[in-house]
Amino acid sequence: MNKQALLINKETELKIEELISQMTLDEKIGQLNQVGPSPIGDMGISKEELDTMLETGLIGPSTYEKILAGEPWYNDEIDIKKGRIGAFLAVRDLKKINMYQKIAVEESRLGIPLMFGYDVIHGYRTIFPTPLGESCSWDEAVFEETARISAKEAAANGIHWTFAPMVDISRDARWGRIAESPGEDTYLACRFAEARVRGFQGENLSDPDRLLACAKHFVAYGACEAGRDYNQADMSMQTLWETYMPPFEAATKEGVATFMGAFNDINGVPCTTNPYLYNTVLREKWGFNGAVVSDAGAIQECLMHGNVADREDAARQALNAGMEIDMVSRCYMNHIPDLIKSGKVTMETLDEAVRRVLRLKFAAGLFEHPYVDPELGPKMYLCKEHRAASRNAAKRSIVLLKNNGVLPLKKTLNIAIVGPAADDGSNMNGCWGALWKEGEAVSLAQGFKNRGINVKVAACCDYTEKGLDIDALNEAIKDADLVIAAVGEHIEMSGEAHSRAYIGLCGSQNQMLDEIKKANKPLVTILFNGRPLAVPNVQEISDAVVEAWQLGSEAGNAICDVLFGDYNPSGRLTTTFPNDSGECPRYYNHTNTGRPRGAVRHTCKHEDVPLKPLYPFGFGLSYTEYEYSDLSAVVDNGVVTATVKVKNTGKVAGEETVQLYVNDVLASRVRPVRELKGFKKVWLEAGEEKTVTVEVKVCDLGFYDVQMNYVVEPGEFKLWMGHDSECELVTSFEIQ
Ligand code: BGC
Repeated sequence: MNKQALLINKETELKIEELISQMTLDEKIGQLNQVGPSPIGDMGISKEELDTMLETGLIGPSTYEKILAGEPWYNDEIDIKKGRIGAFLAVRDLKKINMYQKIAVEESRLGIPLMFGYDVIHGYRTIFPTPLGESCSWDEAVFEETARISAKEAAANGIHWTFAPMVDISRDARWGRIAESPGEDTYLACRFAEARVRGFQGENLSDPDRLLACAKHFVAYGACEAGRDYNQADMSMQTLWETYMPPFEAATKEGVATFMGAFNDINGVPCTTNPYLYNTVLREKWGFNGAVVSDAGAIQECLMHGNVADREDAARQALNAGMEIDMVSRCYMNHIPDLIKSGKVTMETLDEAVRRVLRLKFAAGLFEHPYVDPELGPKMYLCKEHRAASRNAAKRSIVLLKNNGVLPLKKTLNIAIVGPAADDGSNMNGCWGALWKEGEAVSLAQGFKNRGINVKVAACCDYTEKGLDIDALNEAIKDADLVIAAVGEHIEMSGEAHSRAYIGLCGSQNQMLDEIKKANKPLVTILFNGRPLAVPNVQEISDAVVEAWQLGSEAGNAICDVLFGDYNPSGRLTTTFPNDSGECPRYYNHTNTGRPRGAVRHTCKHEDVPLKPLYPFGFGLSYTEYEYSDLSAVVDNGVVTATVKVKNTGKVAGEETVQLYVNDVLASRVRPVRELKGFKKVWLEAGEEKTVTVEVKVCDLGFYDVQMNYVVEPGEFKLWMGHDSECELVTSFEIQ
């Protein structure tokens, strides 16, 4: 049973029908029309992009001229008054939001409020770790809490609707948007999807500090070939349903209010015009009662896909497929009138779309509280409580990848911090940190200063080919007992449209590391990146390696918590780190092959990279060690109950993430070598041992057979419990 996000009572349904009965055709279409800020400026579209839009027919010559001349492209105020706009994208100025809302509520014929949408992905003013980073906390309470605070801050600035959570399974580190995702594993992504929906929407969507959430990008956007953003995705229906669909279904069950269609085609049909996705899967199979929005401009982009004859045909196919809201292409606004006249879209289809959009507005309480008090936001942005939550999320997201004993740092050491991220607070804000401002995020060097620790700081190089400032480096490190290298990616190297073919360190960063090593200094490398990096050299030459992602407003403080041992690192990777870019896509839960990976010839491997990944899924060290023993699994009443003893064998307390993996030994279709099916976080004092129990429902152990029936086939299953996806303690159980 779904938790219906849009709990609509009879009275509201009647109000909706009453409104629909009074609406003109234009007013109905208006509800489906989400407009963006002008394409140049706010959206950051360059002259070159505009030229391409003209060349490819996305805009006509007169629109092109208007935009270039800086003239308003459309007159939003007149359109709002006429009821020709239902929602906005990325309008961030609260004065403008309240002003537009006033026109809609007080000056339009039916007084239907506008809905303001924005990408609140990992924070609004207080910034949290990028989702890939935060997923490494494996902590549903954190996923929920950061979404709750993001919603509160965004709602205080007039936003009603976020385009999150992004729950695209990402198996290819080259894809820039892996940074926005919860990683490569379906089970974990489901837990992330649920927690995020709870965090954004809360118990009652009409509370003024909540947002309508949006599960995106439906579907398989993360499977773009070669990790190239917007590229096609082609896969079996079984892979689609076993790997890519479940997080979306989990979001639906949690009551997510909206969905966004993906830009890509899936098996040859663009998601934007794909009736199977919306009419069949969302509505018929999953009973979803919210609304679907296109991705930005995606309806008109079907012209480029080549599956629609023109913009009118694009509007027809998209609306008939079950796509209610047209994000910024204005195809609906311009072409639905003719489609209704010609009967290519029926009035019933249009009315149903309008009904679903109005339900969102009622559910979000927009009719009750359309305006926002401008005093509200400034009181809470980056307040103590929100910063504390950001620091907590950040420290729990850090993954310790190597440590030969140099960490935790001794406070008495003379430390130099070098590298492009040494003192760059802005770069902590990640690829989609909404409204952060310069100087608000704590840089690494600032984290040290905040603790009263003096450090020498020098960037010495950037992320480009500009070269290494060797004098600055030598000067910075000459008296140091230990050097911290803060390297990785600029925030603009991951995220949308930022795919990379080579995912090593760029510019002169490697050269800088080599010079530090030549100087014979202990080296702690801290990685700041949106995606997994292929950096075997870093692993080899560093004494310690810390994965610090892009951790948000409190990055520097959180990293220092870990470096100085105030917090024992507990993060675990949610994506595999390959040794080399050429291995991508590399992920742990690949299927069994007839010639499994092995050292000898004729096995499934690359000849020029190690068999094992640089760091496997689930991996992460701590300042203590955990020992596993006495694993057992029993099946009873449709549930597998697995227990294992976990002991903290080290000298400090810590939190272990106990992971449970399963393999179906004999099945009618080849199955993954292992799949995560559960996990539990457990706190252990030094020397303490606990028995940890994880339950797995038998019905979750199935797969889609060749006829696409979901089946759990009887027989033997292997079950591992341990520290990461390469753990070796194994038992087995039988399904009758
Ligand atoms: C992205 C979406 C985003 C939308 C609105 C698109 O380019 O793919 O994820 O929600 O823009 O900003």
